[in-house]
Amino acid sequence: MQTALVTGANRGLGKETARQLAQKGFKVILTSRSEAGRAVAEEFRAAGLEVDYHQLDVANGQSIAELTEYLADNYDHLDVLVNNAGIHYDTFQHTLNTDFGIVEEALRVNTLGPWRVSKALMPLLKKSPAGRIVNVSSSSGSFADSWPGTPAYSMSKCALNMLTLKMAADLEETNVKVNAVCPGWVRTAMGGPEAPRDVSEGAASIIWAVLIPKDGPNGGFFRDGEAISW
Ligand SMILES: NC(=O)c1ccc[n+]([C@@H]2O[C@H](COP(=O)([O-])OP(=O)(O)OC[C@H]3O[C@@H](n4cnc5c(N)ncnc54)[C@H](OP(=O)(O)O)[C@@H]3O)[C@@H](O)[C@H]2O)c1
Repeated sequence: MQTALVTGANRGLGKETARQLAQKGFKVILTSRSEAGRAVAEEFRAAGLEVDYHQLDVANGQSIAELTEYLADNYDHLDVLVNNAGIHYDTFQHTLNTDFGIVEEALRVNTLGPWRVSKALMPLLKKSPAGRIVNVSSSSGSFADSWPGTPAYSMSKCALNMLTLKMAADLEETNVKVNAVCPGWVRTAMGGPEAPRDVSEGAASIIWAVLIPKDGPNGGFFRDGEAISW
């Protein structure tokens, strides 16, 4: 059975991505920084889906180490890692009135989180015949398409895009591919009620990058299966 781990899967896009992956036949390791994800895993199990649960705060090295040890003890490989956890869509500030605590936390969660988790889980991903990492990014991190405001969030996603490029180059000779995906503007706690997309549409954009074939892209940036501008 193929295995997939999703970060920040207790709500929003992470929860829906975990659901869609399980419905496609993956065994999903649902993770969340609080215990909230445990109830979600139980909800999915009650619906007949194959789901495991483990705590993961992507900004906490000890938490990443505990997850890594748990996976090494219980799984012989990992096929998919969805780096979904994200924080601080900071519409309330600009570069001249900045709270640097917010900036540092955004970078720690949105950029260093995927980096640290990908590095820690790479040995298990390399044991997959076709490992896939999807970094859930945003066009707000794009040089071409970003907009004024949200400095912490946009910089953290821009750096995540560069991480995607750098890691893709380092994975070139392996079975593992990494791509960045923008899910579009989605109705979640982060996206707000005015967003045009529901979570199922946003998650489908993520799932596309999970399911790319052996000759699929490595180091790209996509929305709805189409390449978008960095
Ligand atoms: N919604 C949009 O329009 C949109 C657009 C582009 C990109 N995105 C990206 O999509 C991803 C999911 O966002 P969303 O819209 O679903 O937002 P959301 O509903 O606010 O969910 C964010 C998730 O990230 C988790 N999280 C935050 N910090 C974490 C940490 N340190 N460790 C582990 N989990 C952590 C949250 O957990 P808690 O419940 O514990 O806070 C929650 O599960 C994010 O990367 C976001 O940047 C969203």
